Amino acid sequence: MSAHKMIIAIDGYSSCGKSTLAKELAARLGYNYIDSGAMYRAITLYFLRNAIDLGDHNEVLDALSQISLSFVFNEHRNASDIYLNDENAEPFIRDMIVSEKVSEVAAIREVRSFAVAQQKRMGRKKSIVMDGRDIGTAVFPDAELKLFMTADPEVRVIRRFKELYATNPNITLEEVRDNLQLRDHIDSTREESPLRRADDAVILDNSNLSREEQLKLVLEMVKDRTKAF
Ligand code: DC
Repeated sequence: MSAHKMIIAIDGYSSCGKSTLAKELAARLGYNYIDSGAMYRAITLYFLRNAIDLGDHNEVLDALSQISLSFVFNEHRNASDIYLNDENAEPFIRDMIVSEKVSEVAAIREVRSFAVAQQKRMGRKKSIVMDGRDIGTAVFPDAELKLFMTADPEVRVIRRFKELYATNPNITLEEVRDNLQLRDHIDSTREESPLRRADDAVILDNSNLSREEQLKLVLEMVKDRTKAF
């Protein structure tokens, strides 16, 4: 499918299937896919490794000045891996230890300014699908298509559990449930660009949609938007 260059912003709660949809959409449209959550996760990994005191603004700013983030396409995954200072951080950023800290790190104003400035630059040429929590509200308020994804909380817990169990058979449903609830709470109640639906975002509840159905639905929306150009 050929589409005019646009920005597609996908926001929503944790483990709603945002990245699955974003990846497939980008592949079909020949767009870049950027997982903005991976950026907050890589920053969190750096902070954990270097025992950064999250309450100390100077320490946080100094740490951010040492961080360089980039995305490199990995054809095996059909998506980009995030690099933290020339190291492929992808194998570490979804570990529970990072998941437990990432919402706290992502709520820090300096961290958000650092990440959002880079995300805005990535959208300069359009042809991009970006997913996260504040993409349609703060990063690309003028995006041509905005989606706000939701899914039944228990459906999300089971999806995430299955993903994590593949590499960590010790993980429990309770751990995953607690982590998702806590992250959703922090992400939607923080002061700095909290997770919320942009007024012009289309709500997509995918609790009962297959991947194919969901993709088809959104490709129709893209087609409609393209006609509007
Ligand atoms: O999408 P994810 O679950 O990998 O994101 C990890 C965390 O990063 C999430 O709990 C909140 C934060 N995040 C954010 O604050 N803003 C974004 N645009 C993306 C993620």
